[in-house]
Amino acid sequence: MTSQLRFWSFSVAMSVLALLQVGEGVAHVKVELYYESLCPYCAAFIVEQLVPLHNLFGGVDNKYFEVELIPFGKAKVMFNTEVEEGNFNLTCHHGAPECEGNKAHTCALQKYSKKDAIDFVNCSMALSSWNDFTWPLPEPFISKDPTCITNLGLNQLVMDECVSSPKSNVMIARHGIRTLDLDPPLYYVPWIVIDGQWISKQFRLAKKDLKSIVCNKLKQGGVESGVCKVMML
Ligand SMILES: *[C@@H]1O[C@H](CO)[C@@H](O)[C@H](O)[C@H]1NC(C)=O
Ligand SMILES: *[C@@H]1O[C@H](CO)[C@@H](O)[C@H](O)[C@H]1NC(C)=O
Repeated sequence: MTSQLRFWSFSVAMSVLALLQVGEGVAHVKVELYYESLCPYCAAFIVEQLVPLHNLFGGVDNKYFEVELIPFGKAKVMFNTEVEEGNFNLTCHHGAPECEGNKAHTCALQKYSKKDAIDFVNCSMALSSWNDFTWPLPEPFISKDPTCITNLGLNQLVMDECVSSPKSNVMIARHGIRTLDLDPPLYYVPWIVIDGQWISKQFRLAKKDLKSIVCNKLKQGGVESGVCKVMML
């Protein structure tokens, strides 16, 4: 790229950013995503909708659109010991590799900034072969696959230690408790809760077009965000 072109791209990027800052309202939309690491529809939702939209709004520091990730999904925990001891068996919807993946995501959320954690989840979901639907899924053993950790400049040792520690069981169990407490109960992944509520019609639309729901809610709250005028790629 010539420096002129680079400057031009920079200016365009800044204008787009300026455009996105419009809006004085106080509205805020929060999406809680209950999901599991090897679920193809979860991957598609995260990589194609949730993360790109979150980025358009400016990522973790934006004041309009907040994302919370709760990796667990349709996993099961045998609570025959105290949760805090972390000594229990976890079984996951797509088998042991999925438990590893859920733990890796949980560890990323625990050990790193929210931005890094979201980037890690996005990267590892994109890596799982969700778009060709091969079954059984190849075992990426997400925590052991260095691609995302290396690309994002995270620490492999920190991740490995976290994933294999009893502490990660405790953190997973907390996600499990939140997931099992959902009302109505989760029967599908990805399970999308918007502003603390799960509404069937909204859920069906959110899976295909999260942006329209977020933008409608913001509009009702008096926010005219420039993001809502941008076409999603
Ligand atoms: C976990 O599963 C193993 C094998 O099925 C069993 O021996 C063990 O008692 C279980 N532990 C707990 C805490 O449920
Ligand atoms: C999310 O992952 C996709 C696929 O690898 C990538 O193209 C995109 O840049 C990632 N987004 C972020 C914010 O990292």
